[in-house]
Amino acid sequence: MILPVFAFGSPVLRKIAVDIAPDYQGLNELIDNMFETMKAADGVGLAAPQVGLSIRLFVMDARGYAENEPSLANFRKVFINAHIIEKGGEEEIIEEGCLSIPNIHEDVLRPGKILIRYVDADFSPVEEWYEGMAARIIQHEYDHLDGIMFPDLVNPLKKTLLRGKLRDISKGKVAVKYKMVFPLKK
Ligand code: NI
Repeated sequence: MILPVFAFGSPVLRKIAVDIAPDYQGLNELIDNMFETMKAADGVGLAAPQVGLSIRLFVMDARGYAENEPSLANFRKVFINAHIIEKGGEEEIIEEGCLSIPNIHEDVLRPGKILIRYVDADFSPVEEWYEGMAARIIQHEYDHLDGIMFPDLVNPLKKTLLRGKLRDISKGKVAVKYKMVFPLKK
């Protein structure tokens, strides 16, 4: 089932999300629905707060980047109870977008490598280093779990220029093909 994506300005996007227990009601269905929602919206990542749930879970599909990074050929994953425990490598500037912020893309500076601890769909604990596009997408999705969105990370001038556009998105004044919830729509 495709879920509506909560737009910028929705309070759930600013909360610190919490870990879940293995008996979390409807977990497998939620994960399936999030993959389906992400695909329908042409996204490469989707975090649970973006579908209105303040829990530390996100899905990712980075297979589209395999041409440049062959190691991503099968990269379709769910991260549950995710916690980044170390960041390193050289900082990189990469343009980002977000399904909660349609039609806006901005350069964002982030560390090139991260060490993340999480559990997989079977609640087996995993600890892995990532770099390249995987590290970039993970950091973007992970930020959603801490109430952070990419416009928070752009330079102050850009941030000022974005303010009106972000307000329009909150009001639903945006052309978007997938289903969304707009916090300020009248
Ligand atoms: Ni996002």
